[in-house]
Amino acid sequence: MRIVLLGAPGSGKGTQAQRLVSRFGLPQISTGDLLRAAVAKGTTYGVQAKAAMDAGQLVSDDIVLGIIRDRLAEPDVARGYVLDGFPRNIAQAQALTTMLGEIGQPLDAVVQLEVPYGEIVKRIAGRRTCPACGAIYNIHDVPPGSVLRCTNSPDHPPLVQRPDDNEATVRNRLEVYEQKTRPLIDHYAAQGLLRTIDASAAPDIVTQRLIAVLLRPAPSKAARRKAGAMRRPAARKKPAARKARTGVKVKRARPKPGKAKRRATQRVARSKTPRMKVKRSRGRARR
Ligand code: AP5
Ligand code: MG
Repeated sequence: MRIVLLGAPGSGKGTQAQRLVSRFGLPQISTGDLLRAAVAKGTTYGVQAKAAMDAGQLVSDDIVLGIIRDRLAEPDVARGYVLDGFPRNIAQAQALTTMLGEIGQPLDAVVQLEVPYGEIVKRIAGRRTCPACGAIYNIHDVPPGSVLRCTNSPDHPPLVQRPDDNEATVRNRLEVYEQKTRPLIDHYAAQGLLRTIDASAAPDIVTQRLIAVLLRPAPSKAARRKAGAMRRPAARKKPAARKARTGVKVKRARPKPGKAKRRATQRVARSKTPRMKVKRSRGRARR
């Protein structure tokens, strides 16, 4: 299964991607995590990406596409993966389609996690992550005053707050989401790949909703057309409109009759044609 999780910062992409990892055994590919790792290691990519990340802007497509191309070439993605935070704009989505088209492995689904902005701001303010394993927590999930620690191992160091989780950067990240990432919703809806879930409920309920839409069979072409998801061929322009545009009156082409009407016309034509006399001889008709 090849899945994209789409949603605003703090909508729960990382949290749900980690749950899909344990449910389906698919690797999580988070461009945010890969970029943070590159920053921490001080690689060339990391040095270039850091300024954009600190400002809450998107890192350049060249860097991100390079990282994704390398990651998708690793052997663990053969059975599928969960893309978290990628693609982030139309150019990245088109590059991904081309990349996957070349190997004949298109996306199976794009799930949009919908959460109201008020809830998002609260979630981001309370987020803490484990620097050792990347597990995601929230201070709002424990009683006030208690110490939140990584539950994966007692040896893991104390949880930390992400440097881009400050108020100014979060504001920029939300603006960038609206301008550059939100258009992907229509982009993937037009391809019949989009599934949207209300992700404002508790994490377990969101996981149930996510799994339910992933296991639901893909809608048929006809259903997608009915829902307006697929583009119909462009409608012919009306003759009157064409005349107004070109000044030339165009005769309206007579529409092709339907099957029932064609049959009725054939019946009438047959009834008007004099029948040929058929001379029967020993069971075989001769004309
Ligand atoms: P990235 O790391 O992808 O950050 P993001 O998209 O801003 O998303 P977040 O990781 O902040 O949120 P999330 O949706 O994963 O939520 P989470 O599960 O943690 O990107 C960071 C930066 O890297 C970007 O700004 C950009 O600079 C760069 N970048 C990354 N990808 C790029 C790309 N493709 N192109 C260009 N640049 C790119 O949850 C948030 C909190 O809420 C947690 O505390 C969690 O415990 C809690 N929570 C989760 N679900 C629930 C729930 N259902 N109920 C209550 N609390 C919940
Ligand atoms: Mg994340």
